[in-house]
Amino acid sequence: MTDQIIINWAVLGPGRIAETFVNDLLHSKDKLRPEVNSGKIKHQLIAVASHSSLENAERFKKESIHEESNDLIKCYGNYDEVLNNPKVDIVYIATVNSTHFSICYQALQHNKNVLMEKPFTVNHKQAEILTALAKKKNLFLMEAYWTRYNPVYQDVYKYLFTDNRTGDESSIGDIKRIVTDLSYVFDEADPQMNRIYNPALGGGVLLDIGIYALYWVLGFIGKPGRKLAFPQINASAALADTGVDISTAAVLKFENGKLGVSSCSGYFTNEARRVLINGTKGSVEVDDSCRPNEYWIYDDNHKLVIHKAYTYDGKGMFFETDHVALCLAKGLKESPLHTMDDALLMSNVLDTIREQINNRYPDNIESTDIA
Ligand SMILES: NC(=O)c1ccc[n+]([C@@H]2O[C@H](COP(=O)([O-])OP(=O)(O)OC[C@H]3O[C@@H](n4cnc5c(N)ncnc54)[C@H](OP(=O)(O)O)[C@@H]3O)[C@@H](O)[C@H]2O)c1
Repeated sequence: MTDQIIINWAVLGPGRIAETFVNDLLHSKDKLRPEVNSGKIKHQLIAVASHSSLENAERFKKESIHEESNDLIKCYGNYDEVLNNPKVDIVYIATVNSTHFSICYQALQHNKNVLMEKPFTVNHKQAEILTALAKKKNLFLMEAYWTRYNPVYQDVYKYLFTDNRTGDESSIGDIKRIVTDLSYVFDEADPQMNRIYNPALGGGVLLDIGIYALYWVLGFIGKPGRKLAFPQINASAALADTGVDISTAAVLKFENGKLGVSSCSGYFTNEARRVLINGTKGSVEVDDSCRPNEYWIYDDNHKLVIHKAYTYDGKGMFFETDHVALCLAKGLKESPLHTMDDALLMSNVLDTIREQINNRYPDNIESTDIA
């Protein structure tokens, strides 16, 4: 096939999210993947690397990749060999938060394009350094905020800001308030939760799940094409014994009195993990701020205007992977939908909230020194 886009991926950090990512990347046959189903995009996973051991990478290949994939996947017991492999087009970094800065820095130094798991880094200073380095080296760099490519997000965004829109207002009028939450039970006794409770790994619910709730606020207030001044932020949190935040709430006040009210918690699973967008002429509700399936749009009399539900073959991470493939094929150096400025703004917001709630990490992981 001519004009086929072949993307050779490498995964660094064969953990839990990497499993979801790889299976979506390679195996989803969702009908909303026209470029993959038609063969225009071909994703190939050619490397899986563990910093701990070769066995870890091999176990991941054998046990975590659900279907027989292909013989292309090579396993490595270190990250360096992968970064030196010229066949790798892009690395997906799925390691614990505390390592994001140093591993991404190394990948860029080795001239690799990078899809970096969220949170992009543990602080704003680190984010600035990585974005500057990617720019200098003319490499593609994107934070893996996968919700941005989900069809529910895309539909709502398009409806509010494109269809039927007149002047500066959205289709539901002036957006005055956005209320969002994401909460799951994070049981401290569960060894798999170590990364959430451990400050040395960049733990806490804010950077783990709060970021999803906050991105709706940043994404839908002030867009499109009009940047608002940095908001006034007031945050509060309950901290775990380890010092990381385990239940956190923040109010973001933007110019013209627009409010974002965002929360996240590790104490319970909030069945109403909803996003609520209130405009002067209507409102929007979304069922889940991380992996949405369904949305409702109401007019100013709360009469339902649109309700749509999606089901996916897979978890929905493939929307992001296919977007990355198209960006790479076009030679883009960042996603036009989730830019590096968006990631920088978020890192600034997260720093501000962490400062207020007193969730401090050890100096070595906040550092911008490269070992
Ligand atoms: N997009 C999403 O929806 C989503 C969901 C969950 C998590 N995440 C993000 O994805 C990242 C990984 O989360 P996860 O739940 O997959 O974590 P995980 O399974 O606990 O760990 C991921 C991998 O990090 C690697 N790692 C590298 N350096 C490490 C160190 N110093 N200590 C411990 N592990 C280290 C380990 O692989 P090796 O040692 O074998 O290299 C491990 O398998 C986090 O940044 C998280 O915020 C995103």
